[in-house]
Amino acid sequence: MTFVTLEGPDGAGKSTLSVGIKRELESMGFSVVALREPGSTPVGERVRAILLDPAVGALDPMTEALLFSACRSELVRTAIRPALAAGSIVLLDRYFDSTMAYQGAGGGADPGALEALALAATGGLIPDLTLVVDVSPNVSARRRLTSPDRMEAKDHAYRARVRESFLSLPNRRPGRAIVLNGESDREALVAESVAEIIKRIPRVIP
Ligand code: TYD
Repeated sequence: MTFVTLEGPDGAGKSTLSVGIKRELESMGFSVVALREPGSTPVGERVRAILLDPAVGALDPMTEALLFSACRSELVRTAIRPALAAGSIVLLDRYFDSTMAYQGAGGGADPGALEALALAATGGLIPDLTLVVDVSPNVSARRRLTSPDRMEAKDHAYRARVRESFLSLPNRRPGRAIVLNGESDREALVAESVAEIIKRIPRVIP
């Protein structure tokens, strides 16, 4: 029914927000399927373990993009499309905007090639709404785990380019993406997100 993605830098609090949004929408009677990338399928969880393992070391950004895209392709076909077809709201923690931000802006992979990859992996499935949850680099650093995973271990300049890419999304994708202040009150963030989602739910004509 309605496809919503959550994006933003590491440590922005997307997972907590996702739980709050799901609870609120379900209390209103909607069916909500919450998923995350990379992961949420058997193969996705295994590829996720490779992508986040610090022991894997540096990877070429296009290699990373292909691995994230493999997870995405599987998730779109086996979980997202069926849930949307069944009338659920799908709440997805990260999607191709993360590939554009991390592997593209952060890692320097060719944006044109990444766009083509996104199209192949998703079959052209574009979110109805993208909530970019933004936090300052200080808050992001504080909220990241003490033992960073492979992606969290990227340097400050890389993370700054990632954040800039997310912040420019509303300009690049007007109507689809909005930026939320991840440092504001949790209840307020849930309420603002739910209000934006409700606007995108197709009305049933009686
Ligand atoms: P995760 O623990 O899910 O982080 P978060 O809770 O911040 O979403 O790890 C996912 C990591 O992978 C995160 O650092 C962002 C990164 N990532 C990419 O680099 N490219 C992608 O296409 C996706 C989906 C995630």
